Amino acid sequence: MSVVDVFDAVAGSYDEARRRLVPCFDAFYGTAVQVATAPLRAALAAGRTPEVLDLGAGTGLFALLIATAVPGVRLTLVDAAPAMLARAADELAARSVPHRTVRADLVDPLPAGRYDAVVSALAIHHLDDAGKRTLYRRAAAALAPGGVFVNAEQVAGPTPSLNRRYDEVWTTRITELGSDAEEIAAARARMRYDQPATVADQCRWLSDAGLVDVDCYFKEWRFAVFGGRLAEPAADGSR
Ligand SMILES: C[S@@+](CC[C@H](N)C(=O)[O-])C[C@H]1O[C@@H](n2cnc3c(N)ncnc32)[C@H](O)[C@@H]1O
Repeated sequence: MSVVDVFDAVAGSYDEARRRLVPCFDAFYGTAVQVATAPLRAALAAGRTPEVLDLGAGTGLFALLIATAVPGVRLTLVDAAPAMLARAADELAARSVPHRTVRADLVDPLPAGRYDAVVSALAIHHLDDAGKRTLYRRAAAALAPGGVFVNAEQVAGPTPSLNRRYDEVWTTRITELGSDAEEIAAARARMRYDQPATVADQCRWLSDAGLVDVDCYFKEWRFAVFGGRLAEPAADGSR
């Protein structure tokens, strides 16, 4: 079974379990939405339809939060799992949010376009580190000047002992929030496909990809929101 099959198999129950499995759900997604929305509002103010590209969009949870915060955006959702994308398309169509879904692997070329925000949540940690670096370069290249990249992600601890602590804290919190043994076992089975990297490494890779103002905007144990911006060229053409 591939990681994509694993997510397709849980597409029907995915959204319902999110608030239990991501204990800091509101601050985590809320911060990521805050980061993404500044250039989207600027595009609207300039009379343009803001374009958002969501990498590993799944059921469209993050994309929908962005469309709710900034009505008028156009969404492009990429994911390799057809059942997850089908749920996203149903949800977005029911709310009349302009969108397209693209079934593709994150190692494939990105859908053509210049995006005001390239976003991702809990998906890029399924790639190995070389894949993450390559994707960050392609995401930076897909941004419109002034656009932002934001990744709300599950990250590795900087040391093995912190990594173990992240896992202990997560298990305690999701149990307190009502995850039962079956849900925890299923989540752990999905996590066998995880290849998380540290915030420090990923922020460096974003800087290497040419982004500026790279920062980690939120972090609670294994959940972190980080990203950066593609600088507008200065009047003399420099950035
Ligand atoms: C944990 S879900 C996150 C979905 C959504 N972004 C959210 O925040 O709820 C991870 C998603 O990444 C997708 N995914 C994992 N690896 C992928 C890959 N290599 N290419 C495309 N999609 C991938 C899965 O199919 C799944 O829908």
